[in-house]
Amino acid sequence: MADEAKPIEKDTSENGAVADVLAELLTSPINVILLVICLVLIYKIFSSRNRSKPVVKPEIPKLKKRDFYLNELRQFDGTGEHGRILMAVNGKVFDVTRGKRFYGPGGPYGVFAGRDASRGLATFSLTPDVLKDDIDDLSDLNSMQMESVREWEMQFTEKYDYVGKLLKAGESPTEYSDIDDETSTDANKSKND
Ligand code: HEM
Repeated sequence: MADEAKPIEKDTSENGAVADVLAELLTSPINVILLVICLVLIYKIFSSRNRSKPVVKPEIPKLKKRDFYLNELRQFDGTGEHGRILMAVNGKVFDVTRGKRFYGPGGPYGVFAGRDASRGLATFSLTPDVLKDDIDDLSDLNSMQMESVREWEMQFTEKYDYVGKLLKAGESPTEYSDIDDETSTDANKSKND
């Protein structure tokens, strides 16, 4: 008899633990806000995934390797006729058009389109005001945040096409040769395989 009663006791304590976690989550206003933000982002990610499936648009041509000033980058926020989306991370410009469902207009991370996203990524913030209008040297970020920027940079290098450098005011653009372009095309080919 005593043996049969045991599983019931365990069940009750597990339910109690779940109830405790839920109570903890819902009693703090910050937790409730974070939970709502997470749910909204998950909804946006998955709804844009479903929406983008039936639209089969021809891919836009690969961008020739070139450097960008901040104001030039702003033109590539996905609202242009070409729909191209560029984004800078840690001084490097990536073509993230392939990730339109994330960065396209109305996407969960659309705030980063055409911008230097480094500070937003480092501080895990999607608030538009966080991103500076002038060049951002990130010098006030702590070592953990800088590490996070480097990790994002690695993730973007693996997933998206590297286009060129983000230029500071007064810096001259690099003159890339066709060979540079071919090398980056080869790297990107293996990315798509
Ligand atoms: C609060 C809750 C959050 C949830 C639940 C969430 C969820 C996700 C998920 C599920 C993915 C992967 C989507 C996929 O590959 O299909 C993702 C990717 C990503 N998230 Fe979040 N996210 C959250 C917050 C944030 C914040 C605050 C930032 C801003 C720094 C952020 C930036 C990104 C970026 C840049 C990607 C990569 C998109 C890509 O592959 O290009 N996320 N997120």
